[in-house]
Amino acid sequence: MAAIAVLGFGTVGSGVVDVIETHRELFAQRVGAPVYVKTVVDVRDFPDSPYAGKIVHDFAAVEDDPEIVTVVEAIGGRRIARDFTRRALAAGKNVVTSNKELVAYHGTELFALAREHGVRYLFEASVGGGIPIIRPMAQCLAANEITEVTGILNGTTNYILTRMINASLSFDEALKEAQALGYAEADPSADVLGHDACRKICILASLAFGAQISPDDVRIEGIDRVAAEDIALADTLGCRIKLLGRAQKLDDGTLYISVAPFLIPDGAPLARIDGVFNGITVRGDSVDEVLFCGRGAGKYPTASAVVADVLDTLRPGNAERRIEWGPALPGRLADCRQVSHRYLVRVHGDVKVALEAAEKLFGYIDVVPCDGVSIFDGAFTTPAPIPEGLLLARVEKMRAAGVTVANHLMFL
Ligand code: NDP
Ligand code: HSE
Repeated sequence: MAAIAVLGFGTVGSGVVDVIETHRELFAQRVGAPVYVKTVVDVRDFPDSPYAGKIVHDFAAVEDDPEIVTVVEAIGGRRIARDFTRRALAAGKNVVTSNKELVAYHGTELFALAREHGVRYLFEASVGGGIPIIRPMAQCLAANEITEVTGILNGTTNYILTRMINASLSFDEALKEAQALGYAEADPSADVLGHDACRKICILASLAFGAQISPDDVRIEGIDRVAAEDIALADTLGCRIKLLGRAQKLDDGTLYISVAPFLIPDGAPLARIDGVFNGITVRGDSVDEVLFCGRGAGKYPTASAVVADVLDTLRPGNAERRIEWGPALPGRLADCRQVSHRYLVRVHGDVKVALEAAEKLFGYIDVVPCDGVSIFDGAFTTPAPIPEGLLLARVEKMRAAGVTVANHLMFL
């Protein structure tokens, strides 16, 4: 018998318990021994749940139980989850997690602890919900030098943008729907402000480039400044706005890592990935480009990835199959301000004066017609890529000259 414990009986944890308990026979065939959830740790009781009898409040019940082979951590955050993970690994139990925050910040520490105790720390569900991405990148693409990973990595924000575009919902209405569907983080500002996508791109970048990349070192912009006018302007330009996490190896060997809303041309593979779906393109020197796509959040898609990891820990002979990366390498990250993009800039108020000021500063601009966007807005694009630092300096000069710059967005 393989006994499993689940920490946190929320969206993900309850999905994991359901999936394991529903597929007991199938999983017994797959791993060669019966698999069941013995214990669930949560702060609350769940008297109406069919699994009420498995709920305990004290983690020691798991830590001290020699029967429990693998622990699923689905609490989230970096404090209690880290403490329980460390204790579970030290007690000789495999740990499987969906907690990207913990992996992104403390991956190397937890990999080392797992090694030291001869167990595994697996995190397939930490990026892309149900999409297989961690194992494919580490194993199926192992023949490649990976040069770029770009992805729609947050289901909540993709859901919000899609509902704003397709159903003309307000931002708040769309966010409420995403929360009701169980997609959003406990604090949804982590989704909206780009922190969740940042943790995920850091995990993918750490995996691709072999060294821990901390979310604290990454340039992050969320979708909080994206207005209905930007969405309409994108449409005029034949583009869609998507929050992207990007990790690129530049020609000088430094790594450009960022999270921001981008304008994506309609024909690009990521442009039509809508709703809660995530899409991740990985570029390698042999494979060229591959696209991974699927539900990026939600109870059962995420449980699918978690339980696959659980089963992996139970298969005989897998004990030393590790997916991990090394410690951070100082000086590896590029200065984002030096990296060039084309931009869309939206101005508000006296449009004629604003566009004249822009033309003086930029030399040449392409004015974007704003019919049907707003009579108070004007917009232009920069015809050639310019470094982000230069764009920001010019935007500041426009503001100093009294122009209201409502937003600026990068083209992919
Ligand atoms: P939930 O908030 O739904 O679930 C977390 C559960 O853990 C809650 O029941 C919470 O109780 C409980 N909890 C809090 N503190 C403790 C504690 N000290 N001991 C035991 N249980 C505790 O979160 P999710 O299931 O949505 O997310 C869990 C993790 O998975 C997070 O790291 C999240 O980022 C990640 N994730 C989530 C996805 C999703 O679609 N929701 C998808 C992929 C990853 P209470 O509610 O009372 O605080
Ligand atoms: N809040 C996250 C999202 C959950 O919306 O993508 C999945 O990691």
